[in-house]
Amino acid sequence: MAAVRIEEVVGDFVSLRKQGQDFVGICPFHDDKNPSMHVSPRLGIYKCFVCDAAGNPVKFLMEHEKMSYPEAIEYLAKKYGIPLEYERSESDEERQQRTLRESLLIVNEFAQKYFMEQLRTTEEGKLMGMAYLKERGFMDATIDKFGLGYCPDGWDNFTKAALEKGYKEEYLIELGLTGKSQSGKLYDIYRGRVIFPIHNDAGKVIGFGGRILKKDGKDPRKYVNSRENTIYHKSDTLYGIYFAKNAIHKQQNVYLVEGYTDVISMHESGVENVVASSGTSLTQGQIRMITKRTQNITVLYDGDMAGIKASMRGIDMLLEQGLKIRVCLLPDGEDPDSFAKKHRDSELQDYLASESKDFLLFKADILSKEAGNDPIKRASMVNEILKSISCVKDNIERAFYVKECAKLFDLSENDLNLNLRRFVWEKTKEQGRIAQQQQQQQVQQQPSGADGPVVVEEQGVPHLIDSTKHPDLSQQTDLLYEAEKDLILLMLNYGNLIIYESSENEEEKSQGLRVDQFICNEMQKEDIRFHYPLLERIFDKYVDWASYIGNQDQIIRNFTLAEDQQISEFVIRNIPVEEPKYSNRWKDKYDIHTHTTRNNIRILQNQVQNIILTLKLRILENDATIIQKILDQEGLAEEDMMMALQQLNTLNQLKKEISKRLNRVVSR
Ligand code: UTP
Ligand code: MN
Repeated sequence: MAAVRIEEVVGDFVSLRKQGQDFVGICPFHDDKNPSMHVSPRLGIYKCFVCDAAGNPVKFLMEHEKMSYPEAIEYLAKKYGIPLEYERSESDEERQQRTLRESLLIVNEFAQKYFMEQLRTTEEGKLMGMAYLKERGFMDATIDKFGLGYCPDGWDNFTKAALEKGYKEEYLIELGLTGKSQSGKLYDIYRGRVIFPIHNDAGKVIGFGGRILKKDGKDPRKYVNSRENTIYHKSDTLYGIYFAKNAIHKQQNVYLVEGYTDVISMHESGVENVVASSGTSLTQGQIRMITKRTQNITVLYDGDMAGIKASMRGIDMLLEQGLKIRVCLLPDGEDPDSFAKKHRDSELQDYLASESKDFLLFKADILSKEAGNDPIKRASMVNEILKSISCVKDNIERAFYVKECAKLFDLSENDLNLNLRRFVWEKTKEQGRIAQQQQQQQVQQQPSGADGPVVVEEQGVPHLIDSTKHPDLSQQTDLLYEAEKDLILLMLNYGNLIIYESSENEEEKSQGLRVDQFICNEMQKEDIRFHYPLLERIFDKYVDWASYIGNQDQIIRNFTLAEDQQISEFVIRNIPVEEPKYSNRWKDKYDIHTHTTRNNIRILQNQVQNIILTLKLRILENDATIIQKILDQEGLAEEDMMMALQQLNTLNQLKKEISKRLNRVVSR
């Protein structure tokens, strides 16, 4: 983590501008107009001042890229060229699965390189494969980028080469690269085909599509695709996602097309936020890959009506996921590939921009035209559209669609709303039913007695109040929390600065003391303890780190990276991104004793005393409430009652004293 630079990690996804010590950029976590995201290299964190998003580099990757924790670590390790060692002891099965996955990926990598080399360097590759790709108008740079290749048309050229290199037959077969005939002969599945490697979103080759060149009718399949295996799951794969990721982020939209060549051609025309579902309607897994990057999807249709209508049903599913869907209809007979090839880049881009329409309005329009004047048809189509509208989660959006629909079908909004409410209701009921089922399953799975009722112990009068021991009685008020939090933040921000213990004696004043030392002394002297476990943990850690880390920023960075999520969360949330007023540079200069630094020291000194006194006051107040509660208990023994009253008296006395001192500090 010491090697990781927050501005480089965030900078990969958000364009940042230098501002003083920090960087600012448009926050990707909300609809940001002005740059509200601050990135602090000093603290190693990002923080949005509008939407409150904040965190360390790992958190950024987890939130922005929806990576898991291990994935984020792996990403950073790769980015900074740091080899990772895996400490967690895996089960045998896990290790086997992992090594199998790794082995399969390595075999695929070999295969991809082999196919690419065939395409570039062999006579057959150049004559058959490359010639075909050139004929289709693909540029060299694109062929490189997507790693396209060619598998020679012999019986087992590839398989032989792979076996010679020591790759296991069973892996080749598992990956669907090699087949085995009944007589036991091995053969190349992709022979005589142009190869389209399929990458996962981390850029690893997980599968292949192979397009046929010859039309000699022996093999009727236009494409051969990897079959399901340990590393290739069709339903969790989107062709092109690796090459589209950044553009999807930037554009906050993704184009959905059908095929390999559509993706590639659009890239060549400068549209990179494009993925292909490979000829089927989207699966939940694929939708998740999209929704974690953007809420906006534009489906590109070729102008064929039958196809459009068939795919419409699948799109309702996208609406339910909260995606905002637009459609763009291409001219009759064109697919994105052919359209991109026929037009200049700017023309394609203009077309996409101007012809993309809201999906629901598009659907309503098509159905309305199709129904003509037949009232029965019209009624059933209106209902079909209302069903789609009922998938939209947002009430206001729904109202908008109803309005538009009413216009289109010349019906009153009231009538439409009546039916719409029914569909929404049915949907809610259905969702409720599913949720209930899931809950029941969970209840059944829970071991009994795991979460029994909390037993409250009988309380007598404690002879020495230790309110940290009475979390149930103590009224851990917000005020007490705020006071403890202030103390922690004081330590984090200014712990390394030097102040002078206030003393009437001028001589003693010259003896400087670090703020954090001063705080520790006070806490010991007065037996102050934290009531909030999280804050106590932070305090303990601070004391630990401060004992051997000289640099205050480094201590804070340690906190922002703490394994204890609650701790890092707390510090990231509460630490100011801007440099503290009493900067470290000022610390180095304090012995110069300029007028301003003296003034600064005095302000800081007052602040420290103020915060500690406030905390003491809050603790006393808290103790007083505890005693009050004890007094309120019924059937309290007289002896205990006397004791409690006495303590209450003392507490009130102390409270008064501290209030007085506090006023003095404040007014100084
Ligand atoms: P297309 O027939 O539109 O293919 O099928 P394409 O990608 O545009 O290829 P060209 O332009 O004809 O060369 C769309 C997608 O459907 C899948 C492939 O993923 C293809 O990219 N498909 C199609 C198959 O898997 N097998 C097939 O036999 C046909
Ligand atoms: Mn095509």
